Amino acid sequence: MIIAVDGPAASGKGTIARALSRHYNLPHLDTGLLYRAVAATVLRDKLTPEREADAIAACGFEDRLLEDPWLRSDEVGQIASVVSAHALVRAALLQRQRRFAAQPGGAVLDGRDIGTVIAPDAHAKLFVKATPAIRARRRHLELQKQGSPVTYDKVLADIRARDERDAGRANAPMMMAADAAPLDTSFLSIEAAVQRAVELVDARVAA
Ligand code: CDP
Ligand code: CDP
Repeated sequence: MIIAVDGPAASGKGTIARALSRHYNLPHLDTGLLYRAVAATVLRDKLTPEREADAIAACGFEDRLLEDPWLRSDEVGQIASVVSAHALVRAALLQRQRRFAAQPGGAVLDGRDIGTVIAPDAHAKLFVKATPAIRARRRHLELQKQGSPVTYDKVLADIRARDERDAGRANAPMMMAADAAPLDTSFLSIEAAVQRAVELVDARVAA
């Protein structure tokens, strides 16, 4: 069983994907982390994220970089959405994601283009969303807990900028697959969102 979970920043897709992976006992891949690793490498090596050749040079990152907490920062997230717009960067990361999805028992993947590009034949597809203000509040809370002085307004502006870049790009833009089930988590607790996600997946698999 392949489960595709897509949606914008801080919609709750990662939390839901991890919970689904535990519920169905399937391996989970956070595909955003791959783009974040490219971005972190671009920043570390002082490359230019807008230049496709620079971004491609950063695709050969070492796997242990995926464990670095810095990858989760807003700074890296913004650059991730710049490097992820390059067609050749997406192509460089495609096989790794497809291989993960093709494991014998199945897998849960979360990102922006899982249901549309990476696993168009997934058995269940969710598109997780929430209002920009609620997503910004969630992300702001996370950053505050990490000791970041960033303001709510800055987080909201960053989320809007990233939404626009991710949905507006020509290559694999963020969008809901025609056969995906929408899941709005704006007014759901984590527990309620996960319960709803399991219901939606069970309904898809039964159908
Ligand atoms: O993976 P994505 O960026 O879409 O979001 P996440 O990391 O799963 O969730 C972002 C934050 O929102 C986390 O701190 C979650 O605990 C929180 N959250 C929430 O408050 N309510 C939900 N229904 C889902 C997530
Ligand atoms: O957790 P959050 O939603 O904030 O971000 P993420 O999922 O780690 O993704 C970071 C960036 O990587 C996104 O803003 C996208 O530009 C890019 N991305 C993508 O293009 N395709 C994916 N399948 C996953 C992430």
